[in-house]
Amino acid sequence: MGYLLGSIPFGLILTRYFGAGDLRAIGSGNIGATNVLRTGRKGLAAATLLLDAAKGAIAVLIGAALVTGGGALAAVGVFFGHLYPVWLNFRGGKGVATLFGIAIAANWICGLIYAVIWIGALVITRTSSLGGMSAAIALPVVAAVIGRFDLVVLFLIFTLMVLWKHRENIMRLLAGTEPRIGESKDPGE
Ligand code: G3P
Repeated sequence: MGYLLGSIPFGLILTRYFGAGDLRAIGSGNIGATNVLRTGRKGLAAATLLLDAAKGAIAVLIGAALVTGGGALAAVGVFFGHLYPVWLNFRGGKGVATLFGIAIAANWICGLIYAVIWIGALVITRTSSLGGMSAAIALPVVAAVIGRFDLVVLFLIFTLMVLWKHRENIMRLLAGTEPRIGESKDPGE
């Protein structure tokens, strides 16, 4: 159930439904909120961010309510469903918003600090990928600091997957060609 929920590509659905074009043919080709923003539709980008985060949180809450350990299982399902949706030939998103939803449902302190680092790094660098990766890297560290060692391994797996999905962004960052928010519609331009 978590996987099926995670595999709903809200960015793609919203942009198609509201006539904002094919998300995979513009910008980075990613289905996340940052690329929706490149269509110039701020409302759709905000909705994508909220819905991608909400599906992460809802999956964890339902999983945890159903069975002991169900929250962690649902988190794995929803996260990998978002990253590798069967409907899109397993070419899904990069996991930053969905991981926020998972984090806030698993532990509100982890979720809150994730959001603060995400927004903080985004404001400072004006680079979406740097903001998301900073928050993802901080997440297992925060879980360890507050003594939630049961979450550390799970979060570490998610962090590594977020970094793996950002490998093209990392190459662009190293090459100095990663676009900043509002700077360019096409990475590499
Ligand atoms: O959450 C995705 C973001 O970190 C990067 O998106 O489209 O710039 O590759 P994008």
